[in-house]
Amino acid sequence: MKKICIIGGCGHVGVPLGLALAERGFDVTLVDVNAGAVESINNRKPPFKEAGAAKILQDRIGKNLTATTNVEAVKEQDAVVFVTGTPVDEHHNPKINDVLKVVRTYLDLMNKEQLVILRSTIFPGTTGLIAELLRDKFGSAKLAFCPERIVQGEGVEEIFNLPQIIAPSSEEAYIEASAVFSKIAPKIIRLEAKEAELVKLITNTWRYLEFAAANAFYMMVEHEGLDFYTVYNALKEDYPRAKHFPSAGLAAGPCLFKDTMQLSAFYQNNFFLGQSAMLVNEGLPNFLVDQLEKKMGSLAHKKIALLGMTFKANNDDVRESLSFKIKKLLEFKMAKPLTHDPYAAGDFMPLDEVLKQAEGVVLGTPHDEYKNIALSVPFVDCWGFWKRV
Ligand SMILES: NC(=O)c1ccc[n+]([C@@H]2O[C@H](COP(=O)([O-])OP(=O)(O)OC[C@H]3O[C@@H](n4cnc5c(N)ncnc54)[C@H](O)[C@@H]3O)[C@@H](O)[C@H]2O)c1
Repeated sequence: MKKICIIGGCGHVGVPLGLALAERGFDVTLVDVNAGAVESINNRKPPFKEAGAAKILQDRIGKNLTATTNVEAVKEQDAVVFVTGTPVDEHHNPKINDVLKVVRTYLDLMNKEQLVILRSTIFPGTTGLIAELLRDKFGSAKLAFCPERIVQGEGVEEIFNLPQIIAPSSEEAYIEASAVFSKIAPKIIRLEAKEAELVKLITNTWRYLEFAAANAFYMMVEHEGLDFYTVYNALKEDYPRAKHFPSAGLAAGPCLFKDTMQLSAFYQNNFFLGQSAMLVNEGLPNFLVDQLEKKMGSLAHKKIALLGMTFKANNDDVRESLSFKIKKLLEFKMAKPLTHDPYAAGDFMPLDEVLKQAEGVVLGTPHDEYKNIALSVPFVDCWGFWKRV
């Protein structure tokens, strides 16, 4: 097993995997429809912020790593990895057909000797459907579902330290997929397809529930007129069982909400805990805008700084960020949001200009750049990032 291509290879999951495989000696081709991202990779520049990516990219590109929009590259590979997105529809159901459609697009270019690896987060049962597609086409399926569990932004560093789950369709698929992943992962965990699909979804949903619990307590304590972080710090201080209690914060991004919805759809909308978590996390922006209004009176015609537009700190990814929901809510109040982000591309203002004009502030994302800002106007910070006055 030497040559591996990654479909969706210039995305947030494809890049860390491609770099890790190239670092360990595989010949890696990143295939992606995003021509800009392909060009960026070939120009030795990671298309997004990812710790440790630039160094490996500069080291490997043009040697055993390349990126292309040419789908024909799939023909020459020993293994084909699919890591394209897995959206949900307007009824909160996974768009399984989108996943199947991508695989179908490449099927005529593939052959039965190739190992097929699914790495996207998929609805339980999807691996089985793709195995059927392969059997229809080739008479057999050499397939393995190998989910990605890295944290975005630190994936290149984390990928070498996480156990890899492998759910193969056959013994041969297991042996070949293990040969690939044992080069980058310290341990392999073998599961059946549906078990592995659920591991991935439950992992993300568990994280989403943790944030929802913190956010529910934040709203409860602050509603009472008390400072949540006085309570939070006291409950955590030297108390081992509260060690992993996260701070409150906007729980967003392309995975956690979507994957909680997938589990909810999987359990025929009986996953009340997950649905409650969605209400809590999606309701936090409303609570924050109301908090600001309580401090400032009517927000109409007031200039409000909204600092941080990405879905997580010190990252440049704005996908599904709840800062945009806060912006919309401020506009409903006829306020004038002044947005800033140090990393994300967008129609944002310079920080000094925002701070000069702001009559109130909402902290959307606790980027390090904001830590030492001195504020003399009312502000709302659910993260406990700034000292309260
Ligand atoms: N972002 C994360 O940290 C993370 C972590 C674990 C798992 N996941 C899962 O991995 C999957 C991908 O997520 P992502 O964040 O990498 O998404 P992404 O949007 O960053 O990457 C997907 C890539 O696929 C490309 N693409 C789309 N259709 C294509 C096609 N037909 N052929 C070739 N390329 C195509 C896009 O241009 C994009 O570059 C999702 O299922 C997600 O839930 C994401």
